[in-house]
Amino acid sequence: MTWWRRGVIYEIYPRSFQDSDGDGVGDLRGITARLPYLRALGVDAIWLTPIYQSPQADFGYDISDHTAVDPQYGSLDDFDALVAAAHAQELRVLLDYVPNHTSDQHRWFREHPDWYYWRDEPNNWRAAFGGSAWERVGDRYYLHTYLREQPDLNWRNPEVRAAMLDVLRFWLDRGVDGFRVDAMRQLLKDPDWRDNPVNPDWDGVDPFESLLKVHSADLDEVQDVVAEIRSVIGDRLMVAEVYSPIERLVRYYGKNGNGAQLPFNFHLITTPWDAAAIADLVERYEAALPEGAWPNWVLGNHDRPRVASRVGTAQARVAAMLLLTLRGTPTLYYGDELGMIDGPDTGHDPGGRDGERTPMQWTAGGGFTTGEPWLPYGDLSVNVQDEPAMLRLHRDLIALRREFAEADYRTLHADDGVLAYARGDHHAVALNLTGEPRPLPVHGERLLSTHLDGGAERLRADEGVVLRI
Ligand code: NOJ
Ligand code: MG
Repeated sequence: MTWWRRGVIYEIYPRSFQDSDGDGVGDLRGITARLPYLRALGVDAIWLTPIYQSPQADFGYDISDHTAVDPQYGSLDDFDALVAAAHAQELRVLLDYVPNHTSDQHRWFREHPDWYYWRDEPNNWRAAFGGSAWERVGDRYYLHTYLREQPDLNWRNPEVRAAMLDVLRFWLDRGVDGFRVDAMRQLLKDPDWRDNPVNPDWDGVDPFESLLKVHSADLDEVQDVVAEIRSVIGDRLMVAEVYSPIERLVRYYGKNGNGAQLPFNFHLITTPWDAAAIADLVERYEAALPEGAWPNWVLGNHDRPRVASRVGTAQARVAAMLLLTLRGTPTLYYGDELGMIDGPDTGHDPGGRDGERTPMQWTAGGGFTTGEPWLPYGDLSVNVQDEPAMLRLHRDLIALRREFAEADYRTLHADDGVLAYARGDHHAVALNLTGEPRPLPVHGERLLSTHLDGGAERLRADEGVVLRI
């Protein structure tokens, strides 16, 4: 079994993980210094969100030079040192690859305007962070799916493809173990620029959702680009950001496995926290996987409110047990192993995502920086140094899951607030998704409780257990 099937991926938001030079912004040397912590936690790979040179309008997702490290984060030498140190500790390194757009400060935008999409008239498409997706320059408009500082690249232009595939080669040559591909669904647009239809189910909240993105995302032809990117990545790992219904999502595995090995499955983030709903999701996803495809699960990331804020601190332990015992590769967001909750929106991020990006909580005093942190700390009563139960639970779960990482999944019970499933013939998991005691629907030897003790006959409030059956 390849490492990424058995392993756990840990997402690092570099600005907020560890600062090494006191400027209040996390950096590569900081990450290198913290690798022993990750090794002890037991994860197998780190995914770094963008570290490249960037004006930081979208905190690194607006790249102005794909082959330079942003000076705030360090240098290429620091990057090489990070990769060497990670590999020496048997940790893999995944980078973020952002093919859909660049910064408007990238020299390509000045020197090769034809590498971007220009039109004389805008259509009705909207930008993810508000307003029209078209920005006027003189008497023409360019397309930006995100901020106006992030013009979309035209992947129908062979020069763009060649230049962007070379970016992959540059980092592969530096020894990275794979990539997480940003905004994979958005890569090609309707050649006729048709208006998007109105979304009849729009809830009136986010104008970006007021239209169905049938002409601006998830075109069938995107699969050709997925395969082309994968052909360059080869046997290393390709993870892809795909916010799509399950039937559409699983297409990103490609034909005969020529797509992403792990198209991110974000459905646990949006499915109601309910035993029957989660069982139904797992079964629909398992059934939809193409031959040979390996599942994966995500509970949170730098774009979504933290899991402990969504389900509550007590249920966050149960959620951790779910993430780390389902069949498939889990991706763990930094700080979720402590049960970090969202901080306030301090207005730094144009997408309102400051809350889930607060500094990693290393000590009761913070420990992230000797200076002023770029975002305020959250509640420091949970921190690594004090070894909270949540952190110990994560270590134990990550170690235990290796016993059944390859085993198949079977629902045993999904009713009355309790979800129970078997993993192969020897393990079962029972999760109480409520704040009241419940009967245990499956029996066996208790290997681990979310309460980190021997446990009782019943499932206690907010308790999950792993059993040997
Ligand atoms: C998805 C990234 O996760 C998000 O942080 C970013 O703003 C957009 N893509 C645009 O790159
Ligand atoms: Mg720094």
